[in-house]
Amino acid sequence: MHTMHTPSLPTSDLLLLFALTAPTTPIITKIKMTLISNVNDYQIVAKTKLPKALYEYLASGTDDEQTLAENIQAFKHWYLRPRVMRPVKDLSTVVTLFGHTMKMPVFCSPAGVHALCEPEQGECATAKACEQMGILFGLSQHSTRSIEQVQEAAPNCLKFYQAYILKDRQLTLRLVQRAIRAGYQGIFLTVDSVRFGYREADARNGFNALPAPHRLVNYDEPNTSSVQSTSNNSSGSSMEQTYNGAKHKAWDQNSELMFEQNLSWADVRWLKDQINAIAGQHHSRPIPLIIKGVMTAEDAQLALQAGADGIMVSNHGGRQLDACLASIDALPEVVDAVAGRAPVLLDGGIRRGTDVVKALALGATAVGIGKPMFFALAVEGQQGVLNTLQMLQQETQAAMALCGCRSVDEITRQLVTRHPNGTFGGRFFRAKL
Ligand SMILES: Cc1cc2nc3c(=O)[nH]c(=O)nc-3n(C[C@H](O)[C@H](O)[C@H](O)COP(=O)(O)O)c2cc1C
Repeated sequence: MHTMHTPSLPTSDLLLLFALTAPTTPIITKIKMTLISNVNDYQIVAKTKLPKALYEYLASGTDDEQTLAENIQAFKHWYLRPRVMRPVKDLSTVVTLFGHTMKMPVFCSPAGVHALCEPEQGECATAKACEQMGILFGLSQHSTRSIEQVQEAAPNCLKFYQAYILKDRQLTLRLVQRAIRAGYQGIFLTVDSVRFGYREADARNGFNALPAPHRLVNYDEPNTSSVQSTSNNSSGSSMEQTYNGAKHKAWDQNSELMFEQNLSWADVRWLKDQINAIAGQHHSRPIPLIIKGVMTAEDAQLALQAGADGIMVSNHGGRQLDACLASIDALPEVVDAVAGRAPVLLDGGIRRGTDVVKALALGATAVGIGKPMFFALAVEGQQGVLNTLQMLQQETQAAMALCGCRSVDEITRQLVTRHPNGTFGGRFFRAKL
Protein backbone atom coordinates (compact mmCIF):
# COMPACT_ATOMS: atom_id res chain seq x y z
CA MET A 1 0.00 0.00 0.00
CA HIS A 2 1.30 3.45 -0.86
CA THR A 3 1.68 6.02 1.89
CA MET A 4 0.46 9.60 2.00
CA HIS A 5 4.05 10.83 1.43
CA THR A 6 4.48 9.19 -1.94
CA PRO A 7 4.71 12.13 -4.36
CA SER A 8 3.59 10.44 -7.56
CA LEU A 9 0.47 8.62 -6.53
CA PRO A 10 -2.04 8.09 -9.34
CA THR A 11 -5.28 10.00 -8.87
CA SER A 12 -7.21 6.81 -8.22
CA ASP A 13 -4.95 5.96 -5.27
CA LEU A 14 -5.22 9.46 -3.86
CA LEU A 15 -8.96 9.18 -4.13
CA LEU A 16 -8.83 5.83 -2.41
CA LEU A 17 -6.84 7.22 0.49
CA PHE A 18 -9.06 10.22 0.78
CA ALA A 19 -12.29 8.27 0.51
CA LEU A 20 -11.24 5.71 3.05
CA THR A 21 -10.07 8.21 5.61
CA ALA A 22 -12.54 11.10 5.27
CA PRO A 23 -15.73 11.02 7.30
CA THR A 24 -18.90 10.78 5.23
CA THR A 25 -20.67 14.13 5.39
CA PRO A 26 -22.67 15.53 2.45
CA ILE A 27 -19.89 17.97 1.54
CA ILE A 28 -17.17 15.31 1.69
CA THR A 29 -19.31 12.98 -0.42
CA LYS A 30 -19.70 15.77 -2.97
CA ILE A 31 -15.94 16.32 -3.11
CA LYS A 32 -15.41 12.60 -3.53
CA MET A 33 -17.90 12.54 -6.37
CA THR A 34 -16.12 15.31 -8.24
CA LEU A 35 -12.99 13.17 -8.07
CA ILE A 36 -14.68 10.24 -9.75
CA SER A 37 -12.92 9.63 -13.01
CA ASN A 38 -13.52 5.96 -13.73
CA VAL A 39 -15.92 3.13 -12.95
CA ASN A 40 -13.85 1.78 -10.05
CA ASP A 41 -13.94 5.10 -8.23
CA TYR A 42 -17.65 4.61 -7.53
CA GLN A 43 -16.81 1.42 -5.67
CA ILE A 44 -14.31 3.29 -3.52
CA VAL A 45 -16.83 5.93 -2.56
CA ALA A 46 -19.67 3.42 -2.15
CA LYS A 47 -17.58 1.54 0.35
CA THR A 48 -17.38 4.59 2.57
CA LYS A 49 -21.09 5.32 2.19
CA LEU A 50 -22.83 1.98 2.56
CA PRO A 51 -23.26 -0.02 5.76
CA LYS A 52 -20.56 -2.69 5.93
CA ALA A 53 -22.94 -5.65 5.63
CA LEU A 54 -24.59 -4.21 2.54
CA TYR A 55 -21.32 -3.25 0.87
CA GLU A 56 -19.99 -6.74 1.46
CA TYR A 57 -23.20 -8.32 0.18
CA LEU A 58 -22.69 -6.47 -3.09
CA ALA A 59 -18.93 -6.75 -3.38
CA SER A 60 -18.11 -10.22 -2.20
CA GLY A 61 -17.83 -13.56 -3.94
CA THR A 62 -18.04 -17.16 -2.85
CA ASP A 63 -15.46 -19.25 -0.99
CA ASP A 64 -11.93 -17.94 -1.68
CA GLU A 65 -13.25 -15.30 -4.07
CA GLN A 66 -10.85 -16.57 -6.71
CA THR A 67 -13.29 -16.17 -9.58
CA LEU A 68 -14.41 -12.77 -8.27
CA ALA A 69 -10.81 -11.54 -8.48
CA GLU A 70 -9.89 -13.33 -11.69
CA ASN A 71 -12.91 -11.95 -13.55
CA ILE A 72 -11.07 -8.64 -13.37
CA GLN A 73 -7.47 -9.74 -13.43
CA ALA A 74 -7.92 -12.05 -16.42
CA PHE A 75 -8.59 -9.04 -18.63
CA LYS A 76 -5.05 -7.95 -17.85
CA HIS A 77 -3.68 -11.15 -19.42
CA TRP A 78 -5.17 -10.21 -22.76
CA TYR A 79 -3.31 -7.50 -24.65
CA LEU A 80 -4.47 -5.32 -27.49
CA ARG A 81 -2.71 -5.35 -30.88
CA PRO A 82 -3.52 -1.86 -32.12
CA ARG A 83 -3.66 -1.13 -35.82
CA VAL A 84 -2.58 2.36 -36.81
CA MET A 85 -3.01 4.68 -39.76
CA ARG A 86 -6.62 3.73 -40.22
CA PRO A 87 -9.49 6.23 -40.57
CA VAL A 88 -11.40 6.56 -37.32
CA LYS A 89 -12.89 10.04 -37.58
CA ASP A 90 -16.56 9.06 -37.70
CA LEU A 91 -16.25 6.40 -35.05
CA SER A 92 -19.44 4.72 -33.85
CA THR A 93 -20.05 2.40 -30.90
CA VAL A 94 -23.52 1.43 -32.16
CA VAL A 95 -24.32 -2.27 -32.11
CA THR A 96 -27.32 -4.37 -33.16
CA LEU A 97 -28.64 -7.02 -30.81
CA PHE A 98 -31.56 -9.24 -31.87
CA GLY A 99 -32.61 -6.55 -34.32
CA HIS A 100 -32.47 -3.77 -31.71
CA THR A 101 -30.01 -0.92 -31.97
CA MET A 102 -27.96 -0.05 -28.90
CA LYS A 103 -25.80 3.06 -28.74
CA MET A 104 -22.93 1.02 -27.38
CA PRO A 105 -22.10 -2.65 -26.80
CA VAL A 106 -22.55 -2.35 -23.02
CA PHE A 107 -25.71 -3.05 -21.03
CA CYS A 108 -26.87 -3.40 -17.45
CA SER A 109 -26.97 -7.09 -16.53
CA PRO A 110 -30.03 -8.34 -14.69
CA ALA A 111 -29.35 -8.21 -10.97
CA GLY A 112 -31.74 -8.09 -8.04
CA VAL A 113 -32.54 -5.61 -5.32
CA HIS A 114 -31.41 -2.23 -6.68
CA ALA A 115 -33.43 -0.47 -3.98
CA LEU A 116 -30.82 -1.51 -1.43
CA CYS A 117 -28.65 1.13 -3.09
CA GLU A 118 -31.32 3.51 -4.41
CA PRO A 119 -34.28 3.28 -2.01
CA GLU A 120 -36.43 5.92 -3.78
CA GLN A 121 -36.59 4.43 -7.24
CA GLY A 122 -34.75 1.13 -7.21
CA GLU A 123 -34.54 -0.49 -10.65
CA CYS A 124 -36.51 2.41 -12.19
CA ALA A 125 -33.46 4.66 -11.70
CA THR A 126 -31.17 2.21 -13.49
CA ALA A 127 -33.63 1.62 -16.32
CA LYS A 128 -33.98 5.38 -16.83
CA ALA A 129 -30.21 5.73 -17.09
CA CYS A 130 -30.17 2.94 -19.69
CA GLU A 131 -32.98 4.69 -21.54
CA GLN A 132 -30.93 7.90 -21.61
CA MET A 133 -27.93 5.98 -22.94
CA GLY A 134 -29.92 3.99 -25.51
CA ILE A 135 -28.85 0.60 -24.19
CA LEU A 136 -30.41 -2.60 -22.86
CA PHE A 137 -31.56 -2.93 -19.27
CA GLY A 138 -31.93 -6.41 -17.74
CA LEU A 139 -34.57 -6.66 -15.02
CA SER A 140 -34.10 -9.46 -12.50
CA GLN A 141 -36.99 -11.59 -11.29
CA HIS A 142 -35.69 -10.53 -7.88
CA SER A 143 -36.12 -6.82 -8.44
CA THR A 144 -37.41 -4.38 -5.86
CA ARG A 145 -39.56 -2.53 -8.42
CA SER A 146 -42.05 -4.56 -10.39
CA ILE A 147 -41.96 -5.52 -14.04
CA GLU A 148 -44.77 -3.04 -14.66
CA GLN A 149 -43.31 -0.19 -12.59
CA VAL A 150 -40.04 -0.36 -14.51
CA GLN A 151 -41.91 -0.44 -17.82
CA GLU A 152 -43.81 2.67 -16.80
CA ALA A 153 -40.70 4.49 -15.58
CA ALA A 154 -38.66 3.79 -18.72
CA PRO A 155 -41.12 2.94 -21.50
CA ASN A 156 -38.64 3.62 -24.30
CA CYS A 157 -35.81 1.62 -22.83
CA LEU A 158 -34.98 -1.72 -24.43
CA LYS A 159 -35.66 -4.14 -21.57
CA PHE A 160 -35.18 -7.89 -21.19
CA TYR A 161 -36.65 -9.78 -18.25
CA GLN A 162 -34.49 -12.30 -16.38
CA ALA A 163 -36.19 -15.46 -15.17
CA TYR A 164 -35.20 -18.19 -12.78
CA ILE A 165 -37.12 -21.46 -13.07
CA LEU A 166 -39.04 -21.85 -9.84
CA LYS A 167 -40.40 -25.05 -8.38
CA ASP A 168 -43.72 -23.44 -9.20
CA ARG A 169 -43.56 -23.59 -12.99
CA GLN A 170 -46.83 -21.76 -13.45
CA LEU A 171 -45.60 -18.81 -11.42
CA THR A 172 -42.44 -18.80 -13.53
CA LEU A 173 -44.62 -18.58 -16.62
CA ARG A 174 -46.91 -15.93 -15.24
CA LEU A 175 -43.89 -13.71 -14.58
CA VAL A 176 -42.59 -14.23 -18.12
CA GLN A 177 -46.05 -13.52 -19.46
CA ARG A 178 -46.29 -10.30 -17.45
CA ALA A 179 -42.93 -9.17 -18.85
CA ILE A 180 -43.89 -9.84 -22.46
CA ARG A 181 -47.30 -8.28 -22.00
CA ALA A 182 -45.67 -5.18 -20.44
CA GLY A 183 -43.37 -4.75 -23.45
CA TYR A 184 -40.10 -6.44 -22.51
CA GLN A 185 -38.39 -7.61 -25.68
CA GLY A 186 -36.31 -10.55 -24.55
CA ILE A 187 -35.89 -13.11 -21.78
CA PHE A 188 -32.72 -14.07 -19.97
CA LEU A 189 -32.85 -17.45 -18.27
CA THR A 190 -30.22 -17.67 -15.54
CA VAL A 191 -28.96 -21.24 -15.29
CA ASP A 192 -26.03 -20.97 -12.88
CA SER A 193 -28.14 -20.78 -9.73
CA VAL A 194 -29.75 -24.12 -8.90
CA ARG A 195 -28.16 -23.46 -5.54
CA PHE A 196 -27.01 -20.08 -4.40
CA GLY A 197 -23.35 -19.44 -3.78
CA TYR A 198 -22.36 -19.19 -0.15
CA ARG A 199 -20.67 -15.91 0.59
CA GLU A 200 -18.97 -16.08 3.94
CA ALA A 201 -19.14 -12.32 4.39
CA ASP A 202 -22.95 -12.47 4.50
CA ALA A 203 -22.90 -15.17 7.15
CA ARG A 204 -20.37 -13.23 9.24
CA ASN A 205 -22.42 -10.05 8.93
CA GLY A 206 -25.73 -11.75 9.66
CA PHE A 207 -27.06 -10.62 6.28
CA ASN A 208 -29.75 -13.30 6.24
CA ALA A 209 -32.87 -11.50 5.06
CA LEU A 210 -33.79 -8.70 2.70
CA PRO A 211 -33.71 -5.60 4.93
CA ALA A 212 -37.10 -3.95 5.47
CA PRO A 213 -38.87 -2.25 3.79
CA HIS A 214 -37.46 -3.82 0.62
CA ARG A 215 -39.37 -6.64 -0.99
CA LEU A 216 -39.19 -8.93 -3.98
CA VAL A 217 -42.22 -7.25 -5.44
CA ASN A 218 -42.65 -9.34 -8.58
CA TYR A 219 -44.05 -12.16 -6.49
CA ASP A 220 -46.98 -9.90 -5.52
CA GLU A 221 -48.68 -10.62 -8.85
CA PRO A 222 -50.67 -7.38 -9.15
CA ASN A 223 -52.53 -8.43 -12.27
CA THR A 224 -54.63 -11.47 -12.92
CA SER A 225 -53.31 -13.68 -15.65
CA SER A 226 -54.68 -16.00 -18.28
CA VAL A 227 -52.09 -18.60 -17.26
CA GLN A 228 -53.74 -20.53 -14.45
CA SER A 229 -51.72 -21.75 -11.52
CA THR A 230 -51.78 -25.42 -10.68
CA SER A 231 -49.91 -24.89 -7.44
CA ASN A 232 -51.11 -24.26 -3.93
CA ASN A 233 -48.09 -22.15 -3.23
CA SER A 234 -48.11 -19.52 -5.91
CA SER A 235 -49.10 -16.37 -4.08
CA GLY A 236 -46.56 -13.60 -3.82
CA SER A 237 -46.82 -13.32 -0.09
CA SER A 238 -46.26 -17.01 0.65
CA MET A 239 -43.38 -17.03 -1.81
CA GLU A 240 -41.87 -14.12 0.03
CA GLN A 241 -42.40 -15.77 3.38
CA THR A 242 -40.64 -18.84 2.09
CA TYR A 243 -37.81 -16.66 0.96
CA ASN A 244 -37.32 -14.48 3.98
CA GLY A 245 -38.51 -16.88 6.64
CA ALA A 246 -35.85 -19.47 6.02
CA LYS A 247 -33.19 -17.77 8.12
CA HIS A 248 -30.23 -19.45 6.60
CA LYS A 249 -26.90 -18.01 7.62
CA ALA A 250 -26.76 -15.93 4.44
CA TRP A 251 -29.78 -14.46 2.71
CA ASP A 252 -29.27 -15.70 -0.86
CA GLN A 253 -29.30 -19.30 0.36
CA ASN A 254 -33.02 -18.87 0.94
CA SER A 255 -33.54 -18.95 -2.80
CA GLU A 256 -32.84 -22.64 -2.79
CA LEU A 257 -36.24 -23.21 -1.26
CA MET A 258 -37.93 -21.61 -4.25
CA PHE A 259 -35.77 -22.64 -7.16
CA GLU A 260 -36.13 -25.83 -9.15
CA GLN A 261 -33.01 -27.90 -8.72
CA ASN A 262 -33.95 -30.73 -11.10
CA LEU A 263 -33.35 -28.81 -14.28
CA SER A 264 -32.24 -30.08 -17.67
CA TRP A 265 -32.01 -28.74 -21.21
CA ALA A 266 -35.57 -30.01 -21.75
CA ASP A 267 -36.66 -27.16 -19.47
CA VAL A 268 -35.06 -24.66 -21.83
CA ARG A 269 -37.01 -26.20 -24.70
CA TRP A 270 -40.15 -26.01 -22.52
CA LEU A 271 -39.56 -22.33 -21.70
CA LYS A 272 -38.78 -21.46 -25.31
CA ASP A 273 -42.06 -23.06 -26.47
CA GLN A 274 -43.97 -21.19 -23.77
CA ILE A 275 -42.33 -17.89 -24.73
CA ASN A 276 -43.27 -18.43 -28.37
CA ALA A 277 -46.86 -19.15 -27.37
CA ILE A 278 -47.08 -16.10 -25.09
CA ALA A 279 -45.47 -13.84 -27.72
CA GLY A 280 -48.03 -15.14 -30.22
CA GLN A 281 -50.91 -14.35 -27.84
CA HIS A 282 -49.65 -10.82 -27.40
CA HIS A 283 -48.82 -10.32 -31.08
CA SER A 284 -45.35 -9.29 -30.10
CA ARG A 285 -42.30 -9.64 -32.32
CA PRO A 286 -40.30 -12.83 -31.62
CA ILE A 287 -38.91 -12.79 -28.09
CA PRO A 288 -35.32 -14.07 -27.91
CA LEU A 289 -34.32 -16.39 -25.08
CA ILE A 290 -30.76 -15.91 -23.84
CA ILE A 291 -29.20 -18.49 -21.55
CA LYS A 292 -27.20 -16.66 -18.88
CA GLY A 293 -24.48 -18.51 -17.03
CA VAL A 294 -22.94 -20.70 -19.75
CA MET A 295 -19.22 -21.30 -19.21
CA THR A 296 -18.35 -24.19 -21.55
CA ALA A 297 -18.46 -25.09 -25.23
CA GLU A 298 -20.50 -28.20 -24.41
CA ASP A 299 -23.28 -26.27 -22.72
CA ALA A 300 -23.31 -23.62 -25.43
CA GLN A 301 -24.00 -26.37 -27.98
CA LEU A 302 -26.73 -27.90 -25.83
CA ALA A 303 -28.35 -24.52 -25.21
CA LEU A 304 -28.62 -23.85 -28.93
CA GLN A 305 -29.97 -27.34 -29.56
CA ALA A 306 -32.62 -26.66 -26.89
CA GLY A 307 -33.79 -23.56 -28.74
CA ALA A 308 -31.82 -20.73 -27.17
CA ASP A 309 -31.43 -17.62 -29.30
CA GLY A 310 -28.41 -16.27 -27.47
CA ILE A 311 -25.73 -17.35 -25.00
CA MET A 312 -24.43 -15.29 -22.14
CA VAL A 313 -21.05 -16.22 -20.74
CA SER A 314 -21.24 -15.41 -17.05
CA ASN A 315 -20.23 -16.80 -13.69
CA HIS A 316 -22.61 -14.47 -11.86
CA GLY A 317 -19.77 -12.07 -11.09
CA GLY A 318 -17.97 -14.69 -8.97
CA ARG A 319 -21.00 -15.03 -6.71
CA GLN A 320 -21.87 -18.63 -7.58
CA LEU A 321 -19.31 -21.36 -8.27
CA ASP A 322 -15.84 -20.30 -7.16
CA ALA A 323 -12.71 -21.62 -8.88
CA CYS A 324 -14.21 -21.55 -12.35
CA LEU A 325 -12.59 -19.60 -15.18
CA ALA A 326 -12.94 -15.87 -15.46
CA SER A 327 -15.70 -15.01 -17.93
CA ILE A 328 -13.26 -13.48 -20.42
CA ASP A 329 -11.20 -16.70 -20.42
CA ALA A 330 -14.29 -18.88 -20.96
CA LEU A 331 -15.47 -16.70 -23.84
CA PRO A 332 -13.25 -18.04 -26.66
CA GLU A 333 -14.39 -21.66 -26.34
CA VAL A 334 -18.03 -20.62 -26.21
CA VAL A 335 -17.64 -18.37 -29.23
CA ASP A 336 -15.95 -21.17 -31.15
CA ALA A 337 -18.74 -23.60 -30.26
CA VAL A 338 -21.49 -21.17 -31.20
CA ALA A 339 -19.71 -20.46 -34.48
CA GLY A 340 -21.77 -17.43 -35.42
CA ARG A 341 -25.15 -19.14 -35.00
CA ALA A 342 -26.27 -16.78 -32.20
CA PRO A 343 -25.06 -13.70 -30.37
CA VAL A 344 -22.74 -14.37 -27.45
CA LEU A 345 -22.91 -11.92 -24.56
CA LEU A 346 -20.60 -11.71 -21.56
CA ASP A 347 -20.45 -10.22 -18.11
CA GLY A 348 -18.00 -10.38 -15.24
CA GLY A 349 -15.23 -7.90 -14.57
CA ILE A 350 -16.03 -5.26 -17.18
CA ARG A 351 -14.63 -2.04 -15.70
CA ARG A 352 -12.86 -0.29 -18.61
CA GLY A 353 -13.42 0.53 -22.26
CA THR A 354 -10.42 -1.64 -23.07
CA ASP A 355 -12.25 -4.56 -21.38
CA VAL A 356 -15.20 -3.95 -23.68
CA VAL A 357 -12.95 -3.96 -26.75
CA LYS A 358 -11.13 -7.12 -25.63
CA ALA A 359 -14.43 -8.96 -25.10
CA LEU A 360 -15.73 -7.89 -28.49
CA ALA A 361 -12.45 -8.91 -30.11
CA LEU A 362 -12.84 -12.36 -28.55
CA GLY A 363 -16.30 -12.65 -30.08
CA ALA A 364 -18.85 -11.08 -27.73
CA THR A 365 -21.59 -9.00 -29.33
CA ALA A 366 -22.10 -6.93 -26.17
CA VAL A 367 -21.10 -7.00 -22.50
CA GLY A 368 -22.94 -6.42 -19.24
CA ILE A 369 -22.03 -4.74 -15.98
CA GLY A 370 -23.26 -5.85 -12.57
CA LYS A 371 -21.50 -4.52 -9.48
CA PRO A 372 -20.53 -1.17 -11.08
CA MET A 373 -24.19 -0.21 -11.43
CA PHE A 374 -24.86 -0.95 -7.74
CA PHE A 375 -21.92 1.17 -6.57
CA ALA A 376 -22.89 4.03 -8.87
CA LEU A 377 -26.50 3.80 -7.69
CA ALA A 378 -25.39 3.93 -4.08
CA VAL A 379 -23.32 7.08 -4.63
CA GLU A 380 -25.39 9.08 -7.09
CA GLY A 381 -28.52 7.15 -8.07
CA GLN A 382 -29.64 7.38 -11.69
CA GLN A 383 -27.01 10.05 -12.41
CA GLY A 384 -24.30 7.74 -11.13
CA VAL A 385 -25.38 4.91 -13.44
CA LEU A 386 -25.56 7.34 -16.34
CA ASN A 387 -22.09 8.65 -15.53
CA THR A 388 -20.75 5.09 -15.29
CA LEU A 389 -22.18 4.21 -18.68
CA GLN A 390 -20.88 7.44 -20.20
CA MET A 391 -17.39 6.82 -18.86
CA LEU A 392 -17.47 3.32 -20.33
CA GLN A 393 -18.63 4.70 -23.65
CA GLN A 394 -15.90 7.35 -23.74
CA GLU A 395 -13.25 4.80 -22.84
CA THR A 396 -14.59 2.38 -25.45
CA GLN A 397 -14.48 5.11 -28.08
CA ALA A 398 -10.91 5.98 -27.14
CA ALA A 399 -9.81 2.33 -27.17
CA MET A 400 -11.48 1.73 -30.53
CA ALA A 401 -9.87 4.81 -32.05
CA LEU A 402 -6.43 3.87 -30.78
CA CYS A 403 -6.90 0.34 -32.11
CA GLY A 404 -7.88 1.67 -35.52
CA CYS A 405 -11.51 0.54 -35.35
CA ARG A 406 -14.21 2.85 -36.66
CA SER A 407 -17.11 0.52 -35.87
CA VAL A 408 -17.72 -2.50 -33.67
CA ASP A 409 -17.62 -4.69 -36.80
CA GLU A 410 -13.95 -3.78 -37.19
CA ILE A 411 -13.13 -5.20 -33.75
CA THR A 412 -11.87 -8.65 -34.69
CA ARG A 413 -9.98 -11.53 -33.11
CA GLN A 414 -6.67 -10.21 -34.50
CA LEU A 415 -6.94 -7.29 -32.11
CA VAL A 416 -6.09 -9.33 -29.00
CA THR A 417 -3.27 -11.62 -27.96
CA ARG A 418 -1.86 -13.27 -24.86
CA HIS A 419 1.48 -11.92 -23.69
CA PRO A 420 4.26 -13.62 -25.72
CA ASN A 421 6.00 -14.84 -22.53
CA GLY A 422 2.76 -15.96 -20.97
CA THR A 423 3.33 -13.40 -18.25
CA PHE A 424 1.23 -10.59 -16.98
CA GLY A 425 2.61 -7.11 -16.64
CA GLY A 426 -0.28 -5.32 -14.97
CA ARG A 427 -0.10 -3.97 -11.47
CA PHE A 428 -2.17 -5.66 -8.82
CA PHE A 429 -5.79 -4.73 -9.17
CA ARG A 430 -8.15 -4.55 -6.24
CA ALA A 431 -11.12 -6.73 -7.20
CA LYS A 432 -12.72 -6.22 -3.84
CA LEU A 433 -11.93 -3.20 -1.76
C1 LIG B 1 -25.96 -7.74 -5.85
C2 LIG B 1 -26.05 -8.60 -7.07
C3 LIG B 1 -27.25 -9.20 -7.39
C4 LIG B 1 -27.34 -10.01 -8.53
N1 LIG B 1 -28.55 -10.57 -8.84
C5 LIG B 1 -28.67 -11.31 -9.96
C6 LIG B 1 -29.94 -11.83 -10.34
O1 LIG B 1 -30.95 -11.61 -9.69
N2 LIG B 1 -29.99 -12.55 -11.47
C7 LIG B 1 -28.89 -12.81 -12.26
O2 LIG B 1 -28.99 -13.48 -13.27
N3 LIG B 1 -27.69 -12.32 -11.92
C8 LIG B 1 -27.56 -11.57 -10.81
N4 LIG B 1 -26.34 -11.03 -10.48
C9 LIG B 1 -25.17 -11.27 -11.37
C10 LIG B 1 -25.08 -10.18 -12.46
O3 LIG B 1 -26.14 -10.29 -13.38
C11 LIG B 1 -23.81 -10.29 -13.27
O4 LIG B 1 -23.72 -11.59 -13.82
C12 LIG B 1 -22.51 -9.99 -12.50
O5 LIG B 1 -22.70 -9.03 -11.50
C13 LIG B 1 -21.47 -9.51 -13.52
O6 LIG B 1 -20.22 -9.36 -12.95
P1 LIG B 1 -19.67 -7.94 -12.43
O7 LIG B 1 -20.38 -7.68 -11.15
O8 LIG B 1 -18.21 -8.19 -12.26
O9 LIG B 1 -19.96 -6.89 -13.47
C14 LIG B 1 -26.21 -10.22 -9.36
C15 LIG B 1 -25.01 -9.57 -9.05
C16 LIG B 1 -24.92 -8.76 -7.93
C17 LIG B 1 -23.62 -8.08 -7.63
